[in-house]
Amino acid sequence: MAVATQIEENGLKVLSALPKPLRNAGIRTANKFRVMQMNRLKTPLYITLYVTNYCNAKCDHCFYWEELNTGKPELSLEEMKQIAKSLKHPLRTIMLTGGEPFLRKDIADIIIAFHKINGTRRVTIPSNGINTDRIVNAVKKVLEECPKLFLHIQISIDGPREMHDKFRRVPGCYDKATESLRQLLAIKKANKNLACSVMTTVCNANFELIPDFVKLIKTEFPEAMHKFNILRGSHLGTYGVPEDVASTLDADLKKVDSIPPEKLEELFKNVIGEVSKNKDKIWQNFQKLKWQYSIEMLKTEKRIFDCTAGRTFGVIYPNGGVSVCEPTKQFANLHDFNMDFSELWKSQYANHMRAKTRDCNCIHPCNMLDSMGYDTNTIIKATEVEKTNTPFAVTSTNNVIA
Ligand SMILES: C[S@@+](CC[C@H](N)C(=O)[O-])C[C@H]1O[C@@H](n2cnc3c(N)ncnc32)[C@H](O)[C@@H]1O
Ligand code: SF4
Ligand code: SF4
Repeated sequence: MAVATQIEENGLKVLSALPKPLRNAGIRTANKFRVMQMNRLKTPLYITLYVTNYCNAKCDHCFYWEELNTGKPELSLEEMKQIAKSLKHPLRTIMLTGGEPFLRKDIADIIIAFHKINGTRRVTIPSNGINTDRIVNAVKKVLEECPKLFLHIQISIDGPREMHDKFRRVPGCYDKATESLRQLLAIKKANKNLACSVMTTVCNANFELIPDFVKLIKTEFPEAMHKFNILRGSHLGTYGVPEDVASTLDADLKKVDSIPPEKLEELFKNVIGEVSKNKDKIWQNFQKLKWQYSIEMLKTEKRIFDCTAGRTFGVIYPNGGVSVCEPTKQFANLHDFNMDFSELWKSQYANHMRAKTRDCNCIHPCNMLDSMGYDTNTIIKATEVEKTNTPFAVTSTNNVIA
């Protein structure tokens, strides 16, 4: 789901059935109201929580590599419970990431705590898939204790066996990751609230291999979604963030590089667009637009829609630091606010950061999809293409919120 929870629980589907002039007028009016409500939020609806700095891989492309295995203190389960308690709205989605999230022995308890204390509806966890037993045991425990929670495990696999093992610098990584995926897909058969996907980050190391890799995954794991990420970092696909608030998280460009947007465009047209087909046409169109917008931003470095980071979206790091998004710096620390997220979110530091990030743009996929779900032009496009199936016209503008 996501995309602002399918524009407030499928209201968009009803509107999209109307004739075009009526539909567009309806979307404009409804979205103005949604944006007003969004601007009044006291705490975000989406949080990315880095549960650990530990990792058992050393991937060439990792933007978080400098933080890994430093032994710095991490938020405890109790502190996370306090954070969950302090949120003023139930989270639509929390992404638990790191590091390798399943290295936290209490990962299942963290999920259960957010679901039970805050009413969090969806949890997404990206994982390198190395620790099959831990992943499977944690997933089973969560599904048993939280029958209403929607859990999505994304197993990161960047290419075929040899490439993946070399890229992640772990012998046997591919076999372990695919074994985790296999066992998760078996659990999924009896649990409609579990989603499993393969997440592939597109960069110069795997670009040529992707068409065949897509076929391999489709053949071996036909039930798994296959999703794609474009290599990013604070200085890769991020534009206009003032230097004094820019994060330093970046891929190590001595090891890996992005590919030109024209090549990405080709890849999307010939391969990824096909894989992303979905029976929910509006969702599919948002995904398609996300790729088109990313390619356009990489080409023009211009903003296409208003970013909602700092309003609907926030990031918490293992040290308790908070940022409005990954490409920007931590602006305050929960330890200084007694783990009260809502106090921190309304502080002068948060307001300062919101002001500083008014004009930037980036290809960060989570922020993009979240923000696009509040952008009137995008919503209209996503419903139109369902009917016409023509390519989208993308124009860069600084303010497209109606
Ligand atoms: C930072 S990792 C953390 C979770 C887990 N360790 C894993 O690898 O899945 C989350 C996701 O980000 C991807 N990733 C890492 N560095 C990236 C980069 N520079 N650009 C885009 N995606 C990246 C990973 O491949 C993974 O799919
Ligand atoms: S991408 Fe994930 S598995 Fe790879 S080094 Fe980074 S945190 Fe670890
Ligand atoms: S566009 Fe949004 S997510 Fe990207 S850097 Fe700026 S504030 Fe952060």
